[in-house]
Amino acid sequence: MSEGIDKAVPVEPAMDISSQVLETTKKLVSYLKGEAPLTDQAASVWLDSVRTCLTRLAAGESVDWGPEATTANFNALSRFAAARLLRLYEPMLGPKVVNEFSLFVNSGPRFVERGPYRFSFDCFSSRIESWRADLSRFVGGSDLQFLEIGSLEGNSACWLLENILTGEDVSLTCIDPFPGTVEAKFDANIARTRSTAKLVKLKGRSRDILPSLAAEGYDFIYVDGCHHQVSVLEDEIFSWRLLRPRGIMILDDYTLRKNPIHELLSTEIQRPDKAIDAFLSIYEGRYELIRISDQVTLRKL
Ligand SMILES: C[S@@+](CC[C@H](N)C(=O)[O-])C[C@H]1O[C@@H](n2cnc3c(N)ncnc32)[C@H](O)[C@@H]1O
Repeated sequence: MSEGIDKAVPVEPAMDISSQVLETTKKLVSYLKGEAPLTDQAASVWLDSVRTCLTRLAAGESVDWGPEATTANFNALSRFAAARLLRLYEPMLGPKVVNEFSLFVNSGPRFVERGPYRFSFDCFSSRIESWRADLSRFVGGSDLQFLEIGSLEGNSACWLLENILTGEDVSLTCIDPFPGTVEAKFDANIARTRSTAKLVKLKGRSRDILPSLAAEGYDFIYVDGCHHQVSVLEDEIFSWRLLRPRGIMILDDYTLRKNPIHELLSTEIQRPDKAIDAFLSIYEGRYELIRISDQVTLRKL
């Protein structure tokens, strides 16, 4: 046998990009949950795998896991994940690996930009086209009241203020517990719209706040708060009372279960689809179905 053949290492067939991202995410979850030890070697291997995924995505390979599986989101999320691992494990890791992680975390943005706005993760841009079509009759209108349940860092709220609620006597009410640093990020993004006077911020849980709002007081309601089935159903039922006749309601994440990363991170109960199906069935005959895709859009009859 020649020297070359003697030393040959079997070449693993290249993993497809979706499997590689999924494997890397599974590892991350097991380290975050403390199910697997994050040794120096494991940390280096994980970081290499993240870098390979990002290089492949940047080269044009894509994973078909729904509208949020964008390269920009993977870029921001992987740095966010690496920073979280570092916070949890830094005392147990050697200086070389800590340095490698720090360099990676600081090698790119830990946020996604949309125009002047900054988000930890962009879960809205993919909806803009359908929202523009479904909400066109409100553009520039006056005396409009909009309500959003679940605002996070203000992505959908900023878009509504900038593109739909451009007329006089309009308001957008945003309900969210705004935990931790979320509130400051929301406030900073809303300030960038220069429409803060149109915004009513209600900090808290929807189930505590919705009963105090005016019945049939809203032209548009976006249900995007807690994704547990019971909460989604409660939000839908309360929101329906608050919606004016001919008002539009959008229900988010109808197809959340189809994304393997969500499948991995979520439990059965966090899937809104069953609550949305139940609502559509119970309220049948009282709405016109405008759109059914990863979101469901209804007009109240
Ligand atoms: C998917 S995010 C909303 C995304 C936002 N609409 C956007 O497009 O950027 C869900 C939000 O619901 C909020 N939330 C969770 N439980 C809630 C509750 N019980 N009531 C209101 N909001 C809640 C979370 O704090 C989070 O900010």
